[in-house]
Amino acid sequence: MCGIVAYVGERTAYPILIKGLQRLEYRGYDSAGVALFNGKVRVYKCKGRVKELQTLARDEDVSGSIGMGHTRWATHGEPSDANAHPHRSTRGLFHVVHNGIIENHLHLKKELALRGYTFHTDTDTEVLANLIEDVYREQRVSAELATRLALTRVVGAYGLVILCEDEPGRLIAARKGSPLVIGVGEREYFLASDAMPIIEYTDRVIYMNDEEVAVITPDSIDLKDLYNDAKTPDIKTIRMHIDSVDKGEYPHFMLKEIHEQPHSVTDTFRGRVAADSSKIFLGGILDVMPLLIEARRVIIIACGTSWHAALVGEHLFEQYARLPAEVEYASEFRYRDPIVGKGDLVIAISQSGETADTLAATRLAKDSGATVLGICNVAGSSIARETRAGVYTRAGVEIGVASTKAFTSQITVLAMMAFLLGSKRQALPPDNYRALINELTRVPELISEALGQEERVREIAHLYKGVSNALFLGRGILFPVALEGALKLKEISYIHAEGYPAAEMKHGPIALVDDSLPVFVLAPTDRLYEKTASNIQEVKTRGGRVIAIATRGNTDVYRLADHVIEIPPCREALSPLPAIIPLQLLAYHVAVARGCNVDQPRNLAKSVTVE
Ligand code: G6P
Repeated sequence: MCGIVAYVGERTAYPILIKGLQRLEYRGYDSAGVALFNGKVRVYKCKGRVKELQTLARDEDVSGSIGMGHTRWATHGEPSDANAHPHRSTRGLFHVVHNGIIENHLHLKKELALRGYTFHTDTDTEVLANLIEDVYREQRVSAELATRLALTRVVGAYGLVILCEDEPGRLIAARKGSPLVIGVGEREYFLASDAMPIIEYTDRVIYMNDEEVAVITPDSIDLKDLYNDAKTPDIKTIRMHIDSVDKGEYPHFMLKEIHEQPHSVTDTFRGRVAADSSKIFLGGILDVMPLLIEARRVIIIACGTSWHAALVGEHLFEQYARLPAEVEYASEFRYRDPIVGKGDLVIAISQSGETADTLAATRLAKDSGATVLGICNVAGSSIARETRAGVYTRAGVEIGVASTKAFTSQITVLAMMAFLLGSKRQALPPDNYRALINELTRVPELISEALGQEERVREIAHLYKGVSNALFLGRGILFPVALEGALKLKEISYIHAEGYPAAEMKHGPIALVDDSLPVFVLAPTDRLYEKTASNIQEVKTRGGRVIAIATRGNTDVYRLADHVIEIPPCREALSPLPAIIPLQLLAYHVAVARGCNVDQPRNLAKSVTVE
């Protein structure tokens, strides 16, 4: 959601900015723009894709070794050429690219309009550009001080990069709530919303903290907080390889990421389980282990797919660690004055580590005195830094907007945590603990076997690509998988889909069943198989079409269902991992057959940095 990229150095900025914007396309956007400085500032921006921006700038002067670019995901004002960033202040002294939301922009706009400032867009960012210009002119201070003073008047979130025409040769950057990473090169700096546009130039980065402002020239970086206290930049080395941001032989990132799962899950548990399956070792939560052992309950907060992983976690914590567990949408948790405090364990799950609601809920939980852990994929992300301890999922860069490998890695981490806690809390006998760890190490193999069903899934996808609705049913630990299967399908194919607990179908969704409704049923051979088989019959007798996801070797199910997709036998605790694979593939192949933009579905964003 919204992406910033900026450059200051000795090279021509434009190609770096364009490439950077392309690297940020995965976040989701509807318009794009750049501002370049070479004697004066030139701005090119338009509604649409980066490709269209390139066409627009094709015959223009794109010289200059300082510049900034932006991909916008509309919040204030529709997607349009005018609303695209960068935005300019009334006298053109300041140009700004901004991620986040200025909540008091209407109030500020009214005030600035009375003082003669004019507005040509519907955005909150234009208000900010004018506010900075106003402070700069009225108080006759430097652009950097004007920025800091202006920002003390702002309520909301921002990741900002600013060009001041009066002060050439530098960029000003500021952050509160919306991430900004500074890449440190040789006589050059790169700025971006995440490390993706930076990694091909340098592996040395500074993650800006909230309420920090940086003035950056090719040779220097001057970092301060909003109140003028100098800060020392903390340069970190990141390990991210440029290959991870290429599709390789795959037509889409999503398909590549689905197929990466045997490896990504291995990376998640590698070095964290003993070779003889006797132990789990999670270095990131070692320090807080006594608090975890003593915890009276766990609350897991997340959004989207991460929330579905959390629901799997709920089963795992209750069943294997005998720890009462609750799962909440971060956006609901934070606004309902929750009863949470010392003695509670709160786990925030977020692939990006930047989801605004999850971040705010994390802070609330922290302030309440709970022990707060993070399960994040992006190292150095805001939630990872905000939490006291945690476990990285190590799934690698996930670019497809529809999350796949992050989900399976999140479940893998939750399983490791639950088994480890179960053992420490003496809720899990040593033999079971060992058996579960052993099964965990088999998961990559199980996922590979499930991937082997791709051709079958593709055929089924083609049979049902024209439907308008679909139902996904599951029980127990596979109910969240039904929810996730439905979410995947609607996200990328725009087919309305719902996930339901299989038995609950009788209380409503059954009214929808007719021969145009495909019903995907997770029906592994487990302790509830007979019950699920009855649910399949309920659908069949009403003319519905059933696609069963069933355990290899179950011949009975072929009698009941219209189609069967086989998954390998697996212990219940880890069954969501192979079971989600056919549903990810299904969503993918249906979306491709319908001609949808799989990696960047309409209206969605990879990293949701607004509330
Ligand atoms: C967006 C993405 C989803 C993701 C959700 C939560 O909606 O499109 O794929 O599950 O945000 O993101 P997070 O980064 O917090 O896991």
